[in-house]
Amino acid sequence: MSSKLIEREAPPQGAIIVHPEREGRASARGPDARLEEAVGLAQALDLQVRDALVAPLRRMTPATLFGKGKVAEIADLRHAHEADVIVVDDALTPVQQRNLEKAWDAKVIDRTGLILEIFARRARTREGRLQVELARLSYERSRLVRTWTHLERQRGGFGFMGGPGETQIEADRRLLADRIGKLKRELAEVRRTRNLQRGARQRHPFPAVALVGYTNAGKSTLFNRLTEAEVLAEDMLFATLDPTLRMLKLPDGRPAILSDTVGFISELPHELVEAFRATLEEVREADVILHVRDIASEETDAQAADVRQVLERLGIDLEDRKLIEVWNKADLVDPEHRSELAGDARRAGAVLVSAASGEGCEALLETVAALVDEAAPVEVHTPAGEGAAIAWLYRHGRVLERESEPDGGVHLTVKLTAQAQGQFEQLFPHAEVRG
Ligand code: GTP
Repeated sequence: MSSKLIEREAPPQGAIIVHPEREGRASARGPDARLEEAVGLAQALDLQVRDALVAPLRRMTPATLFGKGKVAEIADLRHAHEADVIVVDDALTPVQQRNLEKAWDAKVIDRTGLILEIFARRARTREGRLQVELARLSYERSRLVRTWTHLERQRGGFGFMGGPGETQIEADRRLLADRIGKLKRELAEVRRTRNLQRGARQRHPFPAVALVGYTNAGKSTLFNRLTEAEVLAEDMLFATLDPTLRMLKLPDGRPAILSDTVGFISELPHELVEAFRATLEEVREADVILHVRDIASEETDAQAADVRQVLERLGIDLEDRKLIEVWNKADLVDPEHRSELAGDARRAGAVLVSAASGEGCEALLETVAALVDEAAPVEVHTPAGEGAAIAWLYRHGRVLERESEPDGGVHLTVKLTAQAQGQFEQLFPHAEVRG
């Protein structure tokens, strides 16, 4: 039996989600919102959430994180719900994780383990996969326990049944060390050739549009909505390789490539930053970034701030004109606030949509088309004495670079809409324009 088959036949794992509420923790979000986020993450991994609770931590209990009473209460819950997995929405030390597994007689996953699993499912480039795998192995090695599905699945067992024995763990540890060494070498090799690949990708004829956003903002729903109109022949090519890349048809009929990405998550564990960065390869190379926000969520501002901060930290260019804020789930906003919100969106340069109903999606595509037009810079060479041409470019486009040449000519790199480029070529036939 192949491990794939086992994966499909395995019954859904019942889970209980616990969010430990630490006193004095400075967080923009309340514990209920954080619990809800953790529930969403668990569901994204096909866990069947049977119960979810916030557990206030009054005192520090190093061995088990939670106090005795809480450990017992959760043990009862686990039995009552016949749960196989307990997700603790915080970082657990290896010792805490093992002690809790014993006390609850269930598989325990901490926040880092949960997020790792999501990344592993979503990483797609070779570098992304290697990076996530490396993070996962380092995590496993640090705690001498396996993450919840990986190795067990490969061996054809059921992920959550029982833990491995000590001897097995030692053997795994040596294997892990070998594998980590090998992965690091592979990663170095991939990075060495990455610049070459980048160059190749930039020559791709289609503009690239990437969706980013907080987890649960509605990226995948919007992705489906925007690409549903017509299945283009090119999709076949992508679909077999990668379900998160699809062709998008802009209102004027031009194609673009749309990519969906892994959702952003509050307080990303620091050891996962590199892995997360690797899953965002498409975003770094996109001509236009759509930042999808759940505008109906009370947490919407905190979430948006998180997304922006993470993008900046990852060194992703946030040049305003390449980024569109998409205010999603407009259908959930009550009618009284709706027109006010539409006004706010206009002023903020955002587009209000409902991915669920399709409302606003046409306007969004038009906004994307306008940005795509100006997204690719053109190289312009003006001969000496063409001051008027240069002035025209400054008025109608955005000049990124300007260099004077020895013969008195000027070389400019400028962003222009396709329409403006056409006009320019008619008005100044002596200038040389290269796209
Ligand atoms: P991650 O994969 O976790 O990053 O989530 P995502 O951003 O891809 O969100 P997804 O598209 O899975 O949507 C999350 C939930 O919001 C789903 O239950 C959707 O049905 C719902 N949803 C998405 N867009 C809308 C919308 O416009 N209106 C309403 N009412 N619900 C929506």
